[in-house]
Amino acid sequence: MGVVASAPAKIILFGEHFVVYGEPAIVMAIDRRAYAKVETRKDKGIHIRSTNLGLAGFFEDGAFRIEKGDAKDARMRFEPVKKAAEKVLDRHGEKVGLDIEINSAVPVGAGLGSSAAVVAAAAAAVGELLNVKLSKEEIFRIAFEAEKVVHGTPSGVDPAVSTFGGTLLFQMDTGFKPLEVKADVPLVIGDTGVDRSTRIQVEKVRSIVDRYPRIAEPIMKAAREIVLRAIDALRENDMETLGQLMNMNHALLYGVGVSDESLEWLTNAARKAGALGAKLTGAGGGGCMIALAREDKLEEVMQAIQGAGGRTFPARKTDEGVKIEPT
Ligand code: MEV
Repeated sequence: MGVVASAPAKIILFGEHFVVYGEPAIVMAIDRRAYAKVETRKDKGIHIRSTNLGLAGFFEDGAFRIEKGDAKDARMRFEPVKKAAEKVLDRHGEKVGLDIEINSAVPVGAGLGSSAAVVAAAAAAVGELLNVKLSKEEIFRIAFEAEKVVHGTPSGVDPAVSTFGGTLLFQMDTGFKPLEVKADVPLVIGDTGVDRSTRIQVEKVRSIVDRYPRIAEPIMKAAREIVLRAIDALRENDMETLGQLMNMNHALLYGVGVSDESLEWLTNAARKAGALGAKLTGAGGGGCMIALAREDKLEEVMQAIQGAGGRTFPARKTDEGVKIEPT
């Protein structure tokens, strides 16, 4: 039997990276979900399998053993899932073996928060299986702590949106606030296909900020102003302003070193085809970009991104955060 839970991926509309330094960010859950199915085992091991990545392995007595795929890759991806499961087991008070099967429709390593979605889904599923009542706030905390294993100094924005869903204003010290978004914001996601690590991109920004504090400070201030203007533009469905703000946000991210050639190709192609704005989304250095376009230009923008080498899909927002699926 077992229990299945799911959680959504996300796009960051504004404020990635600067959010790590306490600035606000605007983030939106999208209708691509990660699923975790869990069952108890007779032994005490935590066995994890990822259908979409073709990886399998298990943790037992503090050691990790690979069953399928590359051991280093599997360990890096499974460690946060194990950590989240252990946190729920601690709450349960008894050590139980688990089989966790992950199946995700979220591109991995692309800036769409696939890891946070997987971890939030796994925590919720284990909680339900063991009858440990977890509030969404607790699932968020567990996912956030688990994410720290691989991401170093994450802001928490990814697990927050995967847990709560919707469009959120997120800030590290004040948490999140759901935002009013008047209309469907028509966005295209372009995946460069260039894999990269969030941790390395975050470290890259850190080295710039440490080296040029007096230059970084006004950049952060500008990023904050962009977010504040974007809150109004989203409320009023002012697409033109949103597009301009996205372009400016991208320029700031370029300035702190997290754009790359593939992202420049895709964002430029989108703008040339009539997008109102385009920017990288998430950690950058490859991964995904987003473009905002009026409905009648969406197809053209999508084609242009594809022509520049990107894989595209529409981003539809979802209000559904982490949830238990019917089995
Ligand atoms: C990654 O999706 C977003 C970053 O801002 C890192 C973080 O907030 O933890 C790059």
